[in-house]
Amino acid sequence: MPYRILVTYRPPGDALTRLADLGEIDLWDGEEAIPRAELLARVTTADALYSMLTDRIDDELLDAAPKLLVVSNMAVGYDNVDVAACTARSIPVGHTPDVLTDTVADTAIGLMIAAARRFGEGIDYVRQDKWKKWEPELLWGNDVHNATLGIVGFGRIGVAIAQRAAGFSMRVIATSRRRSSRAEVLGVTQVDFPELLARSDHVVIAVPLTQETHHMFDENAFSAMKPTATLVNISRGATVDTDALVKALQDGQLGAAGLDVTDPEPLPGDHPLLALPNAFVIPHLGSSTARTRHAMANFAVDNIAAAFEGRALRATVNPGVGPRRVDS
Ligand code: DGY
Repeated sequence: MPYRILVTYRPPGDALTRLADLGEIDLWDGEEAIPRAELLARVTTADALYSMLTDRIDDELLDAAPKLLVVSNMAVGYDNVDVAACTARSIPVGHTPDVLTDTVADTAIGLMIAAARRFGEGIDYVRQDKWKKWEPELLWGNDVHNATLGIVGFGRIGVAIAQRAAGFSMRVIATSRRRSSRAEVLGVTQVDFPELLARSDHVVIAVPLTQETHHMFDENAFSAMKPTATLVNISRGATVDTDALVKALQDGQLGAAGLDVTDPEPLPGDHPLLALPNAFVIPHLGSSTARTRHAMANFAVDNIAAAFEGRALRATVNPGVGPRRVDS
């Protein structure tokens, strides 16, 4: 019997062709993300799940998937996957690190500049036909160069952001769970979270979403930040308490926000955040270039191929797990 691979969204490039060489594909090709009921029904016969960051992979799903040998998430983040539940069933979980690091770091810098320098308001000003003359005091923003950048989470993406910040002569401070040897090499000062909030002119969130980082940017965090500070989020929306963010931006407790990710996501068009001139929001485009998305799509195929061949995945979040023994 050929392996069955459930693919929850049509991946870019030749990923599907490569998957077809590995087994029989069951592709969800709907307009919207695969509905939960459809996912639960289709996973019953799947040997592999090629998933997106919007698919919740939990006990309920895994109970419905007795044959599942591997979960391959086409993303570096895996907060949508209950890794412990997969591990308990000897199912390796693959993800796609490294190939998107530079693209996401570029996005972070772009958002920082766009939010701090008020590009969103500038675009609206032009589109609304308000641009009638050059004005010395039009839409003053905050400088990025020579400012202090606080990076929350000094993993691969945090490091890549710090490297770019050096080109803007920024002072970089960072928090991370462990001391980072890269920090010293890059001249980045490691500080605790309260110090980072107090000192930073611009803050970038680059931590994975976990129980510890959920809503780490709340009312208290905003009140500890400079009122002119910029907050950039390229991680996951739920690291920020959205209601508290809206209030902080409205009350002048925070200068501006540049958001690639939001909570909820997608953000409805009538969400209060979108009515704020100092919120610059893009629709989770962090890794969205053709080269990077092709690389991610192929990476996720490599993880499935490895699992089918009984090899270690190219990148896994639960190393040493699997192969699963399944009664035929
Ligand atoms: C990821 O891979 O986790 C990113 O959020 C995708 O852009």
